[in-house]
Amino acid sequence: MTTGIAIVLLASTASAAPAPGAPGAGDPYYPYAGNGGYDVAHYDIRLTYQPATDQLAGTTTILARTTQELSSFDLDFGLHVSAIRVDNVPAAFRTVREGELEVTPAKPLAKNQPVTVVVTYADTPSKVVIDGYTAWKKTPDGALAVDEPQNSQWWYPASDHPTDKATYDVSVEVPDDVAALSNGTLVRKTKQRAGWTRWNWRSTQSQNTYATTLEVGKFEVNQATTPGGQPFVTAYDPATGESLGAAKASVERTPEIIEFLASQFGEYPFEAQGGVVSTGLTFALEAQTRPVYSNKFFVAGTNTSVVAHENAHQWFGDSVSLGRWSDIWLNEGFASYAEYLWSEHQREGTAAELAQYVYDSYPADDPFWQVLPGDPGAANQFDDAVYDRGALAVQALRTAVGDDAFFTILRTWVARHRGDDARIGDFVALAEEVSGKPLQQLFQTWLFTAGKPATGPNGAATL
Ligand code: ARG
Ligand code: ZN
Repeated sequence: MTTGIAIVLLASTASAAPAPGAPGAGDPYYPYAGNGGYDVAHYDIRLTYQPATDQLAGTTTILARTTQELSSFDLDFGLHVSAIRVDNVPAAFRTVREGELEVTPAKPLAKNQPVTVVVTYADTPSKVVIDGYTAWKKTPDGALAVDEPQNSQWWYPASDHPTDKATYDVSVEVPDDVAALSNGTLVRKTKQRAGWTRWNWRSTQSQNTYATTLEVGKFEVNQATTPGGQPFVTAYDPATGESLGAAKASVERTPEIIEFLASQFGEYPFEAQGGVVSTGLTFALEAQTRPVYSNKFFVAGTNTSVVAHENAHQWFGDSVSLGRWSDIWLNEGFASYAEYLWSEHQREGTAAELAQYVYDSYPADDPFWQVLPGDPGAANQFDDAVYDRGALAVQALRTAVGDDAFFTILRTWVARHRGDDARIGDFVALAEEVSGKPLQQLFQTWLFTAGKPATGPNGAATL
């Protein structure tokens, strides 16, 4: 009896040695993205931002849970930190490499315990360079925290990897003449001093660090409600100019587009909708509940295709997230394919027609066919091949299994992995499970083999 207890104590002592949390989540594309030893449950970001000087200051409070005994842990963050408290006790901290902060609590943290980390900071984000890059985009009247795969390090400390999602409160005080937009619901706007307004946003479903965004500037902000009763917030940069009408004619249709996508993929996974159009960036990003669009998408007229793409990401990318960044096809292949589905719904060409046209437009000797959508490499993560060949792979699957199995696969995928992360291998296994067909060769050909597949996305059929 006594001996048995002694052995148990010895065993627990042996496993008790506190160790540093890993500096990354183990992603080969970005070894320092995310951190080991804890899981974040919630971020409370409370900032003041002055556009005139690009001064960003405030605190982020992180509610996490330890997954090991920790002597120290890392945060992904590039701004200048003045203080960190861990469970209310001042902690030591140092920058171990650009964008990587190591925090050493006064006492080691026990395993499987809640922990509260308060980080106080102030900096000029547009001057902060990490690995030669600055994601924070200064605009004439504000700034944008909108980027992928790295975005958070320029405005809040985080475990910056899609395998560690969390809920968010984002509260930003800005001068009265500008707006501060973020994800989810505008819980309230408050004033506590002359000249400044604080915007409090809340996102209640687990959210990726990169899909958490901030847009400050002189936006026209519209608050409405969708037919289903969700907050619908849109914002337009007046500098969009003569294409403002086309931008609105596209983005204001978001609830209709989401309704269509829900008919294809299953229930919309989030609590709010919207869109932000800005002249301060060149791409679009699937910010959770509220995508952000470059005004450039609308200069030639309405573009509901990009609205369908970014909102399809709410299912593919935001709700079901990447297990690793090499799985980017799970985001971009399906969001691009959603453009085809929307086109078919609009009677502007069927998915099969659009896929055939893309397949036919890249000659076999085009370098396009050399990028593997299933593992493109960090440098090619957003290459056309990930989007276009990625969408062709989805059409090839539809051709192989038929419409019934195809849509069952999509709906089962988003239901099974909702709020979580998953990998390409999981998708292939599910497709085989639902269809009862061997599909390894199909995915090998479309996702993992260089060169133009000899058979097109519609199989032997000619359109
Ligand atoms: N996920 C975004 C989109 O599809 C692309 C973001 C590209 N990132 C970038 N830095 N250009 O639509
Ligand atoms: Zn996309």
